[in-house]
Amino acid sequence: MADQATRAENAALPALRWAEPPEGPVLVLLDQTRLPHEEVELVCTDVHALVAAIRSLAVRGAPLLGLAGAYGVALAAGRGYDVEEAAELLSQARPTAVNLSYGVRRALEAHRKAEPGQAAAAALAEARALHAEDAVASRAMAEHGSRLLGELVPGGGFRLLTHCNTGALVSGGEGTALGVVLAVHRAGGLRRLWVDETRPLLQGARLTAYEAARAGMPYTLLSDNAAGSLFTGGEVDAVLVGADRIAADGSTANKVGTYPLAVLARYHHVPFVVVAPTTTVDLDTPDGASIEVEQRAGSEVTDLAPSPLGTQAYNPAFDVTPPELITAIVTENGVVSPVTAETLAAVCR
Ligand code: MRU
Repeated sequence: MADQATRAENAALPALRWAEPPEGPVLVLLDQTRLPHEEVELVCTDVHALVAAIRSLAVRGAPLLGLAGAYGVALAAGRGYDVEEAAELLSQARPTAVNLSYGVRRALEAHRKAEPGQAAAAALAEARALHAEDAVASRAMAEHGSRLLGELVPGGGFRLLTHCNTGALVSGGEGTALGVVLAVHRAGGLRRLWVDETRPLLQGARLTAYEAARAGMPYTLLSDNAAGSLFTGGEVDAVLVGADRIAADGSTANKVGTYPLAVLARYHHVPFVVVAPTTTVDLDTPDGASIEVEQRAGSEVTDLAPSPLGTQAYNPAFDVTPPELITAIVTENGVVSPVTAETLAAVCR
C-alpha cells in the first residue's frame, strides 16, 4: 500500500529514504511524476506498491533503481513477506537498468547468508551500504568528470548539453552526469547547461531543469529536435549523459534520444561523454544488441502529442549508443577512453 504526504513547498526532499514508524518499516519515495510543481512523498509499505512506483517512474534512474531494489528486499524482510518472491517481482519491474537487479541481488544475498533472526537487519544493512557507496561513487565521478572536461575542452567556460535526468534524483549522492555539471558549476566553470526536454516523459524539462534551477545553474531548455541547431551554431562544447546499462563492449543504453545526440556530436567533432557508476556496467551483457530495451505504452506519446483517436505510437524507453561514438565513460574508478571491452573491464574491479 502507498500513502501520500505533501511537504512544505520548496523543502529539499531526498529521492528515497527508509523510515521505521511504529506500524513497521516503510520506504518513502519522492514521487518524481509530480515534479516540478509538487513535492509529494509516496510511502511504500509493501513491495507491490514499490513495484508500481518503479513502473510508473515515481522512482527512476539507474542508480536509484538499484537502491529501491535493495531497500525493497529489506522492506519485504522487515514486514515478514516472502523475500525470494519479493526479489523476483522487484528485479522484473523494469528490464533495462541493470542496477535494479544488482541492488536486489546484493540485499537478497545478505538476507540469505545472515544468521537466523538477523536476516531482515542484514538486508537493510546491505541496502544502506549500497546507498553510501553510491554517494561515494557520485563524488568520485564528479571529480574524474570535471577533470576530463578540462582536458577535452581547454579554456573552460563550458557549454554542456545533457539529456534526461541524472542528478540527485537518480542517486544516493549528487548524481552521474549532472553531478559532474554541478561540480563544474560550483567551480565557476559552467557557461550554459543545455537541457533536452526528453520526450515523451519530459525528465529533462521536469526534473533536470528543476535540479538545475535549485542549484542556480545557468540553464536553457530545448525541445529534443532543436539540438542539431545548437551543434550547427557551435554552441555545445561537450555532451554529458548517464546510462542505464553499459554492455561489456561499451555499448550504452540510455534514455531514448541519446543515440542521435552521439551521432550529432561525432559529426560536429564534439566530445560525447557517458557518466555512470560501475554498478551500471553489465559484463554479462556482451554487446548492445543483447540489451533488453523497455518498450513503454504508446499512450505516453499520444498523451503528449495530440493525434487522431486510435493512433499507434512507437515508444522505446531507451536507445543504444555504440562504443565508437563515445569519447569516454567516466566511472567512480576512473575514465575509460578509448571505450573498448578491455579498457572497460579494467575499471570494473
Ligand atoms: O526511464 P528513466 O527515467 O528511469 O530513465 C533513466 C534516465 O534518467 C536516464 O536514461 C539516465 O541517463 C540514466 S540514470 C542516471
